[in-house]
Amino acid sequence: MKSFNFYHLTDLHYYANERIGSSGKTYEMKCKLDQKCMAESGAIIDSAFKSVTDDKDTEIVLISGDLTFDGEQQSHDALVEKLHNLKKNGKRVFITFATHDFYMHARKYTDEEGETELPKYTRAELRALYNDFGYSEAIAEHENSYSYCVQLTDDVRLLALNDDGDFDAFCGYYNDLLFWIKDQVEDAKKAGCEIFAMTHHPVIEPSPVYPLFSHKAMLGGYEFTTPYLADLGIRYIFVGHTHIHDIDYIDTKKGNRLYQINTAALTAYPLAYRKVEYSDKGMDIKTVQVKDIDLDLGGKDVIEYSKEHFLYMVKGVFETIENDFETFLVLAQGFSGEEEKLRKMQPVLQRIGKIANGMTFGKLCRFFGCGKDVDPAIADSKIVEFICQVILNMYGGTENYSPDTPEYKAFIAVCKKVGKVVKLKDHNRNPVDLAELIAGVLYDGEIDDWNAFLE
Ligand SMILES: [Fe+2]
Ligand SMILES: [Fe+2]
Repeated sequence: MKSFNFYHLTDLHYYANERIGSSGKTYEMKCKLDQKCMAESGAIIDSAFKSVTDDKDTEIVLISGDLTFDGEQQSHDALVEKLHNLKKNGKRVFITFATHDFYMHARKYTDEEGETELPKYTRAELRALYNDFGYSEAIAEHENSYSYCVQLTDDVRLLALNDDGDFDAFCGYYNDLLFWIKDQVEDAKKAGCEIFAMTHHPVIEPSPVYPLFSHKAMLGGYEFTTPYLADLGIRYIFVGHTHIHDIDYIDTKKGNRLYQINTAALTAYPLAYRKVEYSDKGMDIKTVQVKDIDLDLGGKDVIEYSKEHFLYMVKGVFETIENDFETFLVLAQGFSGEEEKLRKMQPVLQRIGKIANGMTFGKLCRFFGCGKDVDPAIADSKIVEFICQVILNMYGGTENYSPDTPEYKAFIAVCKKVGKVVKLKDHNRNPVDLAELIAGVLYDGEIDDWNAFLE
């Protein structure tokens, strides 16, 4: 097999404000409260696309949905122009769209009129608009879902799976699509080809805590679909949606392994995408970060800027949880927190917030009777700052509080105590071990989420 390269980008969430014209305090607030760099999205995409264009050794670009901020027609139109430019420069771009491309509330924000509704495209219109970015090369298309199959090279095919489902409660594959996938994998095998998949929603939890606060955000029916895909013979699936940078795998009961490459949102910290080289030996994945963007960031490095932007929200969550729960709810939604669930948990969350805001490692451990587990070096460190770092690590794919760090030892000691009292259950009502769960959030050591070689 001849080796080849490709890029994976996802969740561009492009807000083409140069065409929309949002302005004023209302717009500024909207930008501030979003995890993504909304106002800077165009410049970030331009910078990434320029780097991709400059790489003459790589022809193929995969983009797995949430192309626009909330489905504004202007953003789609402007993005299609950028994609045509990539094409003119010899790139073959393969996209899927997702709920942020047609289902959300597309808005313009101004101080005079507040939020005003913008027109959106239907899914059929998107299929036509993005015809040159996957569909025109398709060797097969599943019409109901707008999924398609393309020949990437002589030896490898790509299944671009559109998992829109019912757009809301179920983002997954209906039976006819599941059967179609099976046919495509069998056809590929007959032709002597390997087949990769790309879809928007994750099929494996990118962090053990993710399904707990956002179960709906997993691919609908993934408990069945994930082993189904693996047992058909799909070994690699590229996903987005979570905005979490993660590489993970499952082994099925039948002994088949499926790797999931979940790439962070291009326009949110850490402004990352992937460059992949595939050969007979396996898949070599490298993370690339956006370099300079054509905007004045007050002399700040763009990655540092995106980090501060991201933390504004995380810190804001703690600043508002106690006394301004409505703002807290707005902020928490940026992390896929479901409003209804959070509202139900309001008294518990506010209590946790109050405690957390005044807490240091020393106080926390003494309170739970495990003072001996605190290394004096971190006794005065603020728990809120630690939690901010943990969340940053989770989204950025740098969960590095390994079991030998003082933070891990102290925090897990506390979780063990709390776990004896607070009984957590997952969406299937199975008990969850709190300390084990948090351990998986603090440290993800098995596969490097940034740069990995997958055999
Ligand atoms: Fe997204
Ligand atoms: Fe999404």
